[in-house]
Order: sequence, then C-alpha cells, then structure tokens
Amino acid sequence: MATIKCIGILTSGGDAPGMNAAIRAVTRSAIYNGIEVKGIYHGYRGLISGEIKSFKTENVSNIIQQGGTILKTARCKEFETPEGRAGAYETLKREGIDALVVIGGDGSLTGARVFAQEFDYPIIGLPGTIDNDLYGTDLTIGYDTALNTIMEAVDKIRDTASSHERLFFIEVMGRDAGFLALNGAIATGCEAAIIPEIYTEIDQLKELVENGFRKSKNSSIVLVAESPTTGGAMHLAERVKNEYPQYDVRVTILGHIQRGGSPSAQDRILASRLGAAAIDALLDGQRNVMVGVRNDEVVYVPFSKAIKYDKPINRELLNTLRKLSI
Ligand code: F6P
Repeated sequence: MATIKCIGILTSGGDAPGMNAAIRAVTRSAIYNGIEVKGIYHGYRGLISGEIKSFKTENVSNIIQQGGTILKTARCKEFETPEGRAGAYETLKREGIDALVVIGGDGSLTGARVFAQEFDYPIIGLPGTIDNDLYGTDLTIGYDTALNTIMEAVDKIRDTASSHERLFFIEVMGRDAGFLALNGAIATGCEAAIIPEIYTEIDQLKELVENGFRKSKNSSIVLVAESPTTGGAMHLAERVKNEYPQYDVRVTILGHIQRGGSPSAQDRILASRLGAAAIDALLDGQRNVMVGVRNDEVVYVPFSKAIKYDKPINRELLNTLRKLSI
C-alpha cells in the first residue's frame, strides 16, 4: 500500500457546527504525523475545479469555536456524474494528494464511496451533519449544537404559547429523520414529537388530539420533523384547524438558524476526537470508512454500512416522551 504523504480535506453538503473543529483536528493530527495537508474549498465542486490551498497549523488557528466551515461547502451535482468525478481525480493527481478526508452527511459520504470504488482511492469520512442520521455512529458533528439551538428557541416560544394558551407546531430540521424532533421535544418538555420513523404506524396527530393533550394544560407545543412523510408543521396545523377548530394554532419553522452558531463543548470534543482518529485510520491502512463514536469509543464504519442502513430511532425515548407529556 502506497505511503500517504499528503492529504486533502473538504467539507460537503449542509454545514454543521463543529466542522471547523474537525478541520483543525485533521490538519493538526496530520502535520503532527509528518503528513502534508491541502484544504479543498467548496466541497466536491472545488475538488473538480482545483480550489486548493496548502494548510499549515496556523491556517486552523482560532477556528475551533466558529460555526460554519472555513473551507466553505456546496452540494455538487457534477460530482454525481462520471465526468465530474474524473475531473476530481485529475485534480488529486495533479496536486499530489494521496488520500482524502471528507466531512459531511449522507449524500457527501455516498459520493465519497462511489469515488473511492471507481478510482481505488483512499477516503476517510467524518459524519458532519446536524441531522444525526448516519448509521454506525451514536452522534454526528453538529447535532448537539443544533439540539441546543432548538432547545433555546422552543423555551422562548413556550413563554408566548402559555401566555396566549395556544397550540404551537414547531418544525425542526432533520431531512426525513426524527432525532432532532424527538430529543428536542424531550429537552423542552413538549407534548409530542411527530417524526417520520413511526409515521406510517399510526396517525400521530389523531392520537395526540384524541388522548386529550390539553387536559391538564393550557398550552401545548408539538415538534414536527421536516419530512415529506409528516407533511411538515404547516400541513399538520392546517389539519388541526380544520378537524379541531377549538384550538388556537400557530406555526414556527425554525429553519437554518439550527445550522448556525458556535459549536457546543460536546461537538468540539467529538470533532476533535474524530478528526484525530481519521488520521490514525489512514496511518493504520484503513480505507473507505466513516469514523464514528459508539458508547464513547471511536469506531470505524464501512461507507457501505453508514450509508445503506437507516439509523433506528430509540423507542425508549418515544416512550419517555409519552409518559412525561401527560
Ligand atoms: O442535512 C442538513 C440539513 O440542514 C437538513 O436538515 C435539511 O433538510 C437540509 O440540510 C437543508 O438543506 P439546504 O440548506 O441546502 O436547504
């Protein structure tokens, strides 16, 4: 197996708080081990067009606390084509980059997997997404910060909901995954979370209303995971207005505020650990794996698994929410 002398690092897909901490960790661990680092700007798009800069330790100073990504990011359609990927491979050869570290979510790691197979090229993935929807890791970089942002926002909405005695539907991100909605609901004492994972089993809205969720309360907040399956907060609010006109309903869509902000301590630590582990993995000869964490231990998950399987929702959390929202 060829020795790795130079690595490239990029962030791809939706940004997530903690990506900068991961860039810092990968860069510094690589340099610590005598490996040269090149930062690739604008994700796969910049890989194709060659937007690349050599990184020294000072290029990643003072970024651990910053949200977003200093490398910028993009969702790149061109990388989904064989021509786009061939262009990316040309750039890597020209720049003398022997391996890549890709920080991103499901779509970005899917791209990494296809590229790695096509060109027999070493790639290590880091799970960077607020959605927490990658299989094989308990946590993804950015999820904890987003959860805390949701918690702060919902706490504020609670004040007005209770003053006006209203029913609020608050839509949170997650791209068809309910982790933010479910844990956000537990953290803020919500009455329910409407999530895609169990949507087809029961009509969650009907169950909620018919169990009389306002019996002992004068206001209610329901977190809704954005998803074509749930239909989103607007859709559910319309349903309630039509089917249960006795409720005074309002909707808030939290949107991209959930992606911003300084990363939490947990995200900084996670990103630092996973970034350092990415370099360990390359030095150990590992290829085409996502570095994750399970039961507080670093784990290496083959791309095929991280992408292929749906990460299951913990039913115990659902039951806890149900019990505590009476
Ligand atoms: O994957 C992260 C995420 O924030 C999802 O939760 C959301 O569905 C999506 O990205 C939004 O993407 P964009 O910023 O491209 O609109």
